[in-house]
Amino acid sequence: MTSEEKRQTLAARGNNRSQQPDHGAFSDFIGSDWGPLVEKSERAEVADYLADRHAQLSERFPGERLVIPAGTYKVRNNDCDYRFRAHSAFAHMTGLGGELEPDAVLVFNPSEAGHDVTLYFHPRAPRSSQEFYGDSRYGEFWVGARPSLAEMSAVTGLHCDSIDNLSDALQKDLGQGQVTIRVVPESDASIEAQVADLRQRAELTEGAADADLDLAEALAEIRLTKDEWEIKEITKSIELTHEGFSEIIASMPRARGHWRGERVVEGAFGAKAREEGNGLGYDTIAAAGNHANTLHFIDNNGPVEPGKLILVDAGIEVDSLYTADITRTLPVDGKFTQAQAEVYEAVLEAANRALEKANEPGCRFRDIHTAAMEVIADHLEKWGMLPCTAAESLASPAQYHRRWMPHGTSHHLGLDVHDCAAARREMYTDAELTSGMIFTIEPGLYFREDDLKVPERFRGIGVRIEDDILVTETGAVRISEDIPRTVSDIESWMGRILNK
Ligand code: GLY
Ligand code: MN
Ligand code: MN
Repeated sequence: MTSEEKRQTLAARGNNRSQQPDHGAFSDFIGSDWGPLVEKSERAEVADYLADRHAQLSERFPGERLVIPAGTYKVRNNDCDYRFRAHSAFAHMTGLGGELEPDAVLVFNPSEAGHDVTLYFHPRAPRSSQEFYGDSRYGEFWVGARPSLAEMSAVTGLHCDSIDNLSDALQKDLGQGQVTIRVVPESDASIEAQVADLRQRAELTEGAADADLDLAEALAEIRLTKDEWEIKEITKSIELTHEGFSEIIASMPRARGHWRGERVVEGAFGAKAREEGNGLGYDTIAAAGNHANTLHFIDNNGPVEPGKLILVDAGIEVDSLYTADITRTLPVDGKFTQAQAEVYEAVLEAANRALEKANEPGCRFRDIHTAAMEVIADHLEKWGMLPCTAAESLASPAQYHRRWMPHGTSHHLGLDVHDCAAARREMYTDAELTSGMIFTIEPGLYFREDDLKVPERFRGIGVRIEDDILVTETGAVRISEDIPRTVSDIESWMGRILNK
């Protein structure tokens, strides 16, 4: 058998499980006598915000065709895919969330007025078609009734067209006059390949990679300030995350009695995320005791023991795909020990100082981290852990204090948990805070069990406190302020839930 024959044989094995009847009589039979299909006609609230987002992108790239793919499925194994989530740039520019709309592409086509924007996607096929019952990717029998062009247009307010017309739209007038093309990098390999081929043919390859990165950068920078609708969605995700943390507390007695209690905690939050939102904004960290000192601990495979803390970093992504990012460090049995409270208070002071700094006029994004680090270093000096004074450590390139908090204090938050990552430094880290920005403040202290530089009473304690902050016209506020975070508020919160 040649390798090509073998490859074909392997591909055919995907049909091992069942064979569809392909008789014409069957097609006629399955395609007939269905009741009417009710189409959605209500315009989504987000539709009113899209024109402004589009205008911001349009003005950066006059005369250029801009291609923003939703992306496609990622194979998990064989014919099983991961749940689809659209590329965040596509979600932002279309307002589509949930599992909509694999393989779709939003195109900004240069026009006299700026750009005409069209959403190309695979519309629902009629029930008389083979797709209806035979196509596991798009067929109504398999994935439910997908939108028609008219339906999608009514909901999003966007001009819509069939994906079959995308190719022509991408190549029209390319290279003639001023029309050039950019595509969002790492969004959809097949669309990117198509654009690369068109560029080759139109002799537009020079500087193409940089051009695409500039598009990604622009799309990220437009998201640095959130509009009113986005703020509402993130607020909703934070409220649900608050409820998720209350579920975690309620799960604590069961977690304590389970050999892998961290999974009980993870599961309690995950259930809430799926019930009320689209899911998790990122994998939950449920790290009890010394596990809290592994920064990206997502195995969550340990016990939850009395007398220990559990650090939970978790966020619910709502249906529109916006996420919260919250960390609370909770005493497993509802009361902090003295040593735990001492570390906790230090981290809380750093968080509070960081927010005060964010409220000073002219504060730049990176100043928030500096403010938090000053508090952290002061405490480490007081506890005799630094090889020099706090001031010296802060001024030194060695940054000794970072041994106990090696991560940053803040990142932008939105559709991605680490939102706007492709923005330029001058727009992100070095930029002054502006109204509409949403970011985290998340200082921590991580005292590993095996860290001989840590006073014995603190060993095995890891604390992070993470809140989500909105910059308004009158100052920076914690959107997550309702989620208890002081020692006494956490103890009361836990008491209320556990003693019910
Ligand atoms: N949950 C990821 C982070 O806090 O950045
Ligand atoms: Mn974070
Ligand atoms: Mn987090």
